[in-house]
Amino acid sequence: MPRIVCVAGARPNYMKIKPVMDALERRGAEVLLVHTGQHYDPAMNDVFFADLGIRPPDRFLGVGSGSHAEQTGRVMTAFEPLLEEVSPDIVVVVGDINSTLACALVTAKAGPLLAHVESGLRSRDWSMPEEVNRVATDRVSDYLLAPSPDAVENLRAEGYREDQIHLVGNVMIDTLLANLERARASDVLDRFGLTRGEFGLVTLHRPANVDDPEVLAGLLKALGEIAGRCPLVLPVHPRAAGKLAELGVPGGIQLVPPAGYLDFIALQDAARVVLTDSGGVQEETTALGVPCVTLRDNTERPITVEQGTNVLAGRDPARIVATVNGVLDAPPAPRRPELWDGRASERIAEVLVRGGSSITRPRPTDQPRPTDRTLPI
Ligand code: UD1
Ligand code: UDP
Repeated sequence: MPRIVCVAGARPNYMKIKPVMDALERRGAEVLLVHTGQHYDPAMNDVFFADLGIRPPDRFLGVGSGSHAEQTGRVMTAFEPLLEEVSPDIVVVVGDINSTLACALVTAKAGPLLAHVESGLRSRDWSMPEEVNRVATDRVSDYLLAPSPDAVENLRAEGYREDQIHLVGNVMIDTLLANLERARASDVLDRFGLTRGEFGLVTLHRPANVDDPEVLAGLLKALGEIAGRCPLVLPVHPRAAGKLAELGVPGGIQLVPPAGYLDFIALQDAARVVLTDSGGVQEETTALGVPCVTLRDNTERPITVEQGTNVLAGRDPARIVATVNGVLDAPPAPRRPELWDGRASERIAEVLVRGGSSITRPRPTDQPRPTDRTLPI
């Protein structure tokens, strides 16, 4: 049975890696969880281990915050000797954060095969650090594990081999469905004085939205107008905390600390509308059938617009207010994309444990490997 290193580093990774680890272990794989330490506050980290029942990491790299180069470089420097020591058959990375790319680059030059969960998503917006991370991670991956047909189409258009590409579905939804009943038992609505179906939920953390005070002030103006019709609750991401405190928020917007997973799912499930720039939240609202207005000009998850409840509103305050009013007047019909069925991690484990010919590069290892080693791009 293979020895598999699973990597997690920040908030959106935990709900993706947990069901994959479980499915691999059910098939007898030896799984090691490596935590890079990119996120470290209890509210951005510990609460997810508790809520999701993730065991403590086998290895903790403790890299913390820094510039892109500092953070990526620290993960790489710490991960390289670990890989050499542990010598796994496969490394699994999820999503699009700096830790994802850092561990992918190290793995690509070492022996193990590399599997990317959430492969093929593209915003085509190169100003997003995540777009760089996605494209570069896919380029050095052996197994490309795609959540949706649009992701498969992107990978084909970029010239990847068919035997590398696996349409497996969305692991985020595995975790959502597995925890929905527990989330519905949360008392978070009472704690925040909210009534089901009578409030809007907001998240903001994209650099393009929160780093520039002028842009953030425009978004807050729009949120203030919306709050006049539908009160808003905003769990504050640490990236945005300082700027929000400096600018101050209009009345009707309740700022609360970052929510734990179960509380946040309960908030989404009970919200009348969700306003967000998060990737994962666009998917969860689609699965829950809750209207979502995305405060970005583009999305790497177009299926949530085409087959879900997501509407893109951009960053212009007037357009945001008009879009939210439209959604409140005529909420989109709930629909759930195919393969967002709670079984994506089972399909991933099946692919990884079965093996196959996904290998793309010669490996510095004595183990026999398949011989087809050319990429057609
Ligand atoms: C990161 C990911 C982003 C993801 C987001 C999820 C990258 C490039 N970005 O963005 O794709 O959507 O996580 O939430 O990998 N901070 C704390 N406590 C923490 C973590 C961060 O206070 O536990 C603060 C620090 O001031 C830090 C800032 O937040 O400098 C940004 O953290 P960082 O991990 O660099 O990026 P995020 O904006 O969180
Ligand atoms: N989330 C949470 N508490 C919050 C905000 C988000 O538990 O206060 C969860 C959310 O349900 C989803 C994930 O965090 O599962 C999304 O992470 P985030 O928005 O930080 O990152 P992104 O998906 O944009 O990369």
